[in-house]
Amino acid sequence: MGAKSLLALSFGAAFVLGQESCPGYSASNVQQSGSGLTADLTLAGEACNAYGTDLPNLTLTVEYQSANRLHVLIEDQDHTVYQVPNDVFPRPGSAGSADSSNLRFTFTESPFSFAVARVDGETLFNTSGTPLVFESQYLNLRTSLPDNPNLYGLGEHTDPFRLNTTNYTRTIWNRDAYGIPPGSNLYGAHPTYIDHRGASGTHGVVLLNSNGIEVKINDTAGQYLEYNTLGGVFDFYFVAGPSPVETAQQLAEVVGLPANVPYGGLGYHNCRYGYQDVYEVAGVVHNYSEAGIPLETMWTDIDYMNDRWIMTVDPDRFPMALVRQLVDYLHQHQQKYTVMVDPATAYVPGGEYGAFNDGVEQDIFLKNSSGDLFLGVVWPGPTVFPDWFHPQSQAYWSGQFDSFFNADTGIDIDYLWIDMNEAANFCNYPCSDPFGYAEENNFPPEAPAVRNGSPIALPGFSADFQPPSSAAKLRLRRQENTASMMGLPDRDLIDPPYSIQNAAGSLSNKTIHTDIIHYNGLAEYDTHNLYGTMMSNHSRNAMLSRRPQDRTLVITRSTFLGAGQYVGHWLGDNISDWPHYRISIAQMLAFSSIFQIPMVGSDVCGFGGNTTEALCARWMMLGAFYPFYRNHNELGAISQEAYRWESVAESARIAIDIRYRMLDYFYTSFYEQTVDGTPSLNPMMFLYPEDSNTFAIDLQFFFGSSVLISPVTEENGTSVDIYLPNDIFYDWNNGFAPVQGSGKTISLEDVDFQTIPIHIRGGSILPLRSESANTTTELRKKSFQIVIAPGQDGTANGTLYLDDGLSLEQAATSYISFTWDGSTFSMSGTYDYGAGVDISTITLLGANSQPQSVRSNGADLSATYNSTTKVVNVEANIPLSGDATVSFGQVSAFTGTASSAVSSNALLLASVAASVMCLSGFW
Ligand SMILES: *[C@@H]1O[C@H](CO)[C@@H](O)[C@H](O)[C@H]1NC(C)=O
Ligand SMILES: *[C@@H]1O[C@H](CO)[C@@H](O)[C@H](O)[C@H]1NC(C)=O
Ligand SMILES: *[C@@H]1O[C@H](CO)[C@@H](O)[C@H](O)[C@H]1NC(C)=O
Ligand SMILES: *[C@@H]1O[C@H](CO)[C@@H](O)[C@H](O)[C@H]1NC(C)=O
Ligand SMILES: *[C@@H]1O[C@H](CO)[C@@H](O)[C@H](O)[C@H]1NC(C)=O
Ligand SMILES: *[C@@H]1O[C@H](CO)[C@@H](O)[C@H](O)[C@H]1NC(C)=O
Ligand SMILES: *[C@@H]1O[C@H](CO)[C@@H](O)[C@H](O)[C@H]1NC(C)=O
Repeated sequence: MGAKSLLALSFGAAFVLGQESCPGYSASNVQQSGSGLTADLTLAGEACNAYGTDLPNLTLTVEYQSANRLHVLIEDQDHTVYQVPNDVFPRPGSAGSADSSNLRFTFTESPFSFAVARVDGETLFNTSGTPLVFESQYLNLRTSLPDNPNLYGLGEHTDPFRLNTTNYTRTIWNRDAYGIPPGSNLYGAHPTYIDHRGASGTHGVVLLNSNGIEVKINDTAGQYLEYNTLGGVFDFYFVAGPSPVETAQQLAEVVGLPANVPYGGLGYHNCRYGYQDVYEVAGVVHNYSEAGIPLETMWTDIDYMNDRWIMTVDPDRFPMALVRQLVDYLHQHQQKYTVMVDPATAYVPGGEYGAFNDGVEQDIFLKNSSGDLFLGVVWPGPTVFPDWFHPQSQAYWSGQFDSFFNADTGIDIDYLWIDMNEAANFCNYPCSDPFGYAEENNFPPEAPAVRNGSPIALPGFSADFQPPSSAAKLRLRRQENTASMMGLPDRDLIDPPYSIQNAAGSLSNKTIHTDIIHYNGLAEYDTHNLYGTMMSNHSRNAMLSRRPQDRTLVITRSTFLGAGQYVGHWLGDNISDWPHYRISIAQMLAFSSIFQIPMVGSDVCGFGGNTTEALCARWMMLGAFYPFYRNHNELGAISQEAYRWESVAESARIAIDIRYRMLDYFYTSFYEQTVDGTPSLNPMMFLYPEDSNTFAIDLQFFFGSSVLISPVTEENGTSVDIYLPNDIFYDWNNGFAPVQGSGKTISLEDVDFQTIPIHIRGGSILPLRSESANTTTELRKKSFQIVIAPGQDGTANGTLYLDDGLSLEQAATSYISFTWDGSTFSMSGTYDYGAGVDISTITLLGANSQPQSVRSNGADLSATYNSTTKVVNVEANIPLSGDATVSFGQVSAFTGTASSAVSSNALLLASVAASVMCLSGFW
């Protein structure tokens, strides 16, 4: 204890010691091959033992894995140091050679350092400034960077999308982080960054390491980025880009391609914590329908559980028979149902609690060193935690799902929500009396009063939607504390000499203790950051085992590198305020465009605290352009379902209408990301990588690659300054009228609370549905409207992917490419999926005149022209079953002379009328 405190006290000094007098390593026995090299690295002097013991012998392995990927691994010679298990993170394959690589690895033998450069000379990574430190509980490596670099990634955080470059610390240690404070470690671990250098290109760097990490970015010894980890090895993947989109694609090759989602998963979701009973949930479904706001999926938080025990229902408030009726009702109306499941399982020995008993029988819960179950405190009180490394953990988890979520006898959920999987534990370290802690802090919290029968009229629900007369409540008592006092186990795993700036305090605080050893012998100290992703993988498999034919949608809180292969992510417990509304964009962009977890979104209208009418109206519109679009609210906060205020209801109707008309456009982008990692959301700098004005923009973004979303971001405001690069755009809210961007910020005034500025980027062709619908099932019956938005060169292109939206293995799909060459629209591709609808309309934007004729297949098509908006609408009626062309005779394209003022004035005029309408009764 004394020695530890001394180290803690001398933190600053010891760190300097690490930098200045650690000996570094010398390389020897260098073996070169066509595909890379290996070398021995030997400690080059007296050990400094700054934060643990220096390892004397390391090996360096360098592999040119593909033309654009280089793998650099520095590990201990004995292979005893922990590395992320291959079955949790399968390594990418390797088939490259030095000769064919766009990257070049060079090194200095002594003191050892290495550099990665492009073959044209640009140095991307260079560790020569400081000695490499590789100790038992501490690794340190620093790369120098250009001044004021454009760095992005290193999640999960709520700092700006473009990372701070001075005096900046990014701690990576998964944590239950209520309120998602900036500058702190949050739920997920993504030690990936991209470095964008404008015309010199973009590259990406992944450090595959699941230990606690502190990245420091500073400019006080030249500009640098430095890794400090509490263990593991240096396992780097460098990808060459050189464009941001190519960088994203290459990062997907490292971490794995994201899973596709069911089409319906892109519909609008509603949830809250604090629905008192099944009637209230049914009432919300009913109210959405009454309000004419399309609700695709209803969710229930932990409220449905009996005393917060997973895999149970509260027999009074959520009796199984009624929950089943609710689910039937939803399914009959083409809607879906989702509930939350946590990993923490109530500790109930000797009772009749199946999830606990089965787990004990199969021995799948984590244990402490004395062999007793490891206990924390979560919602149900004292809890145990599944050990996802146990060989039976999948069978156990799937078994629980098969029975509790059984279609015939249980809750037939469509999607799944998993939470608290960092893992969260409310009990402060050392949590020596979980029973006392639970008692004092009221876990499980008291359930709300039982209501007698449905308090609200629920037309459409059957007459027996009533509570059971006097069902005896199954309430299993907790047992006396049988766990031994834990004491301090191996202290290195609890209190390592180097402390990362974990906002929860010590490493083990508020989570599973880091000295817990998993069934397979791995320490939680090393694998903590994997817990949520392993639960994600298990949960996805359990959902697929229930409905083996169908894609599933699992939304998780905690993630690690590669989690997108299994799940989507909601951005956690945000707060209902404007800063959280704004930061949601940067967060979402990092997950979609860098971490390859594209099914992402924040709690719309905000989770914690009370929302306001203005905020909720704006957020319902912004959320319509999150891939994952869910309104969610906290227990105790004022209600915020979209129908609670007429202004918000109207915002929701308008935004959902737009989202749904764009749904196949977005589904196509999402599909493309699952195929090759092309981002389905784009930061502005991804599409304008040479325009330095875009590098720090994180309040505007592209939904897909063609639709620029520029929400109003100021509290209660009705104006917004938006940046338009030097390109042609078309204003969605002004009849698609062209707007010439000129690399300047323009002000949009009087943007009412039912308007979100949307611009289509020139050069795009968008497949829209011709109208929206109440559910995505109905939406799929609507015909298509193809919108051609010519670029500055007069041409445009786009794609449309069609499938049945649900099957895991598709029997037939269509993938259609659209092009516009300035006078002819063509489509070509595959048409195996029978969409059952046609292209009813082709809309050409930016036309300076009415075309003399529009012809397809020798026939004249009827066309109308709007000279104000410069839009031609053609009645096309072209089947989606084969290649086709439509030629527009003599149409001259917009030449980009109209000023942006045209559009903003028009928007101003249009929105004044609307705002007058909305303001009545709003303020
Ligand atoms: C490191 O390598 C040297 C030279 O091979 C060997 O003598 C020494 O025992 C090794 N040390 C350890 C701790 O393995
Ligand atoms: C940045 O460098 C300054 C000066 O050395 C130092 O005081 C500060 O702690 C550093 N910040 C970080 C995050 O490393
Ligand atoms: C660096 O940041 C820390 C904490 O974020 C702050 O306390 C300190 O004053 C900053 N130092 C400098 C030199 O800006
Ligand atoms: C990042 O920089 C911004 C702007 O300078 C500053 O407000 C913020 O506190 C910084 N965040 C951290 C974590 O250093
Ligand atoms: C654990 O967290 C609690 C609440 O944030 C804090 O008061 C306590 O000091 C922390 N304990 C340790 C060991 O970090
Ligand atoms: C939210 O509003 C309710 C009702 O007005 C109030 O009781 C509660 O204190 C508010 N919560 C917060 C965090 O302001
Ligand atoms: C925004 O509106 C809310 C009421 O909806 C009000 O409480 C708040 O003070 C307003 N904020 C500003 C900055 O005017």
